[in-house]
Amino acid sequence: MKIAVFAGDGIGPEVVHEAVRVLEKLDLPGMELIEGDVGGAAWRKHGHPLPQATIDIAHAADAILFGSVGDFDCDHLERHLRPEQAILGLRKELTLFANLRPATVFKGLEDLTTLRAEVASQIDLLIVRELNGDVYFGEKGVRTLDDGRRQGWDMMSYAEDEVRRIAHVAFRAAQGRQGRLCSVDKANVLETSQLWRDVVIEVAAEYPDVELSHMYVDNAAMQLVKNPGQFDVVVTGNLFGDILSDQASMCVGSIGLLASASLGETQTQYGTKGLYEPIHGSAPDIAGQGKANPMAQILSAAMMLRHSFGLEEQAARIEKAVATALANGVKGGDLGGSAGTREIGDAVVSAL
Ligand code: NAD
Ligand code: IPM
Ligand code: MN
Repeated sequence: MKIAVFAGDGIGPEVVHEAVRVLEKLDLPGMELIEGDVGGAAWRKHGHPLPQATIDIAHAADAILFGSVGDFDCDHLERHLRPEQAILGLRKELTLFANLRPATVFKGLEDLTTLRAEVASQIDLLIVRELNGDVYFGEKGVRTLDDGRRQGWDMMSYAEDEVRRIAHVAFRAAQGRQGRLCSVDKANVLETSQLWRDVVIEVAAEYPDVELSHMYVDNAAMQLVKNPGQFDVVVTGNLFGDILSDQASMCVGSIGLLASASLGETQTQYGTKGLYEPIHGSAPDIAGQGKANPMAQILSAAMMLRHSFGLEEQAARIEKAVATALANGVKGGDLGGSAGTREIGDAVVSAL
């Protein structure tokens, strides 16, 4: 079981350290961890945020445990050298087009969210975010117009096969849950979204057991705080999914709690090859202070055991240990508590 560990920048190494301790506690036979450099840390060492050596490790691994990348000191660099290119590059290089971002409120901890407890308690949703297309990967640039003004531009597009493959992932996910799928787009304005909607409707014919609905993204942002319990599976494009998942994280308590799996179609001898990362970033404002909540990273490791190694029982054990730690009052600053990164890691390890 080869696991590539790319810790990255800011709080990435701090939270990855705790997730690795949790994995080691499980004492899984044959588990091998291989570290690699990504992000600003890789740029400082090798002059590139995603060095070839790291790409090689990613290809050889069965799964990747990813921390976070992002370093404000690098924001002046040309775009292809910025830390974020490491995660975007890995998603593209490994064709990890399906990003699963589950958001479920921890039972008994409904008071932790900024929503009213009776609203938050209803949340059990899965955002299926497309990860290889959209305005993220289109041509882009800054040009000077004839009248001398600078104009920034980014090309948004989705090809029908890109929509079809993520739609299949979402419909199958809905079949395994409550059987409801909401496709979120901006078809009232964007041609890209109209095609998205048309293709999702075509794919729906193959899933008569799933109830499909459509929602514009602005309304979805509103509904997510008004009545998040209405959602089962949400499927959406790369940009809308990025934004809505940060919002969903606050609905269940904190961005320090939301894990994700990025999957493609590559099968290994153990399961589906994937990359696992929290949805949060490198949090430069708290980096190096031992304050970051490692739970999202730990829960990402649980998703890795489930999807890439078929270890459902161990994945569920980790999730239960996190819930136990929270129920015991071990909360980071992001949840209004005072526990530090290490203390939270200790609590999860001892709950295991
Ligand atoms: P962020 O998610 O890093 O931080 C947003 C806020 O949430 C900050 O106040 C931060 O302190 C807090 N926060 C985030 N994770 C936390 C945790 N585990 N525990 C406690 N508090 C936590 O988003 P940002 O500030 O917009 O971005 C910072 C950098 O991270 C940028 O360079 C951005 O590009 C990058 N980023 C990377 C990823 C990734 O690697 N997948 C994801 C998002 C942002
Ligand atoms: C995320 C992040 C990334 C994204 C950035 C760092 C490129 O915000 O994983 O949510 O926008 O996909
Ligand atoms: Mn994001």
